[in-house]
Amino acid sequence: MMRRVLIAMACVCAIGLTNVVVDGQDSAKSDAEVERGRATVKMLDNIFKQAIVLITDKYVHDEDDFPAGSAAVVWFKAISEAGPNSVRLIDASGDPYKATNVAQDEFEKAGIKELKAGKPYYDEVAVRDGKRVLRAVTAVPVVMDKCVMCHPHYKNVKPGEAIGAISYTVPL
Ligand code: HEC
Repeated sequence: MMRRVLIAMACVCAIGLTNVVVDGQDSAKSDAEVERGRATVKMLDNIFKQAIVLITDKYVHDEDDFPAGSAAVVWFKAISEAGPNSVRLIDASGDPYKATNVAQDEFEKAGIKELKAGKPYYDEVAVRDGKRVLRAVTAVPVVMDKCVMCHPHYKNVKPGEAIGAISYTVPL
């Protein structure tokens, strides 16, 4: 029990960005659930970003090729509909390619603000349909020169600055 509490405390301190809106009665249990949610986000985020970079590198050569961004929008929608995790690719640059790819609620808007301020990750525990979920956003920087081909305004951002985000909702 003590070990779990210590591990949970260490993780919360290490990340330090969580804004816990709702906390359960058993905080040790809640923290362990939050840590599992974060691990899921981290794993999905790694898979998605590796795939987006690989698709852009190997398959996208000019503006007429099917961009990884478009692929991500389609495949994130399919993943979200299949459940239980919801994923969206959204803009953080203020000039989205598609008007629908923007922060839609208070959490995503707050998250984009944190990413623009330089944080690579931001999360919050919320309640949806009476169940606890982890909401999280992770930064998408301009990782390749090719990104600028279709998003010309990306060339004005500082290296490493978030121009987009992946937004996750993971059940706890
Ligand atoms: C071949 C053109 C093309 C390239 C190259 C490209 N994108 Fe996109 N990107 C698009 C299109 C088109 C959309 C809109 C997809 C949709 O909603 O169907 C998009 C959407 C996005 C979005 C969601 C917000 C928005 O603007 O709609 C982000 C973030 C994004 N791209 C980042 C990147 C990054 C980072 C790279 C480099 C790894 C990149 N893109 C390379 C065409 C491109």
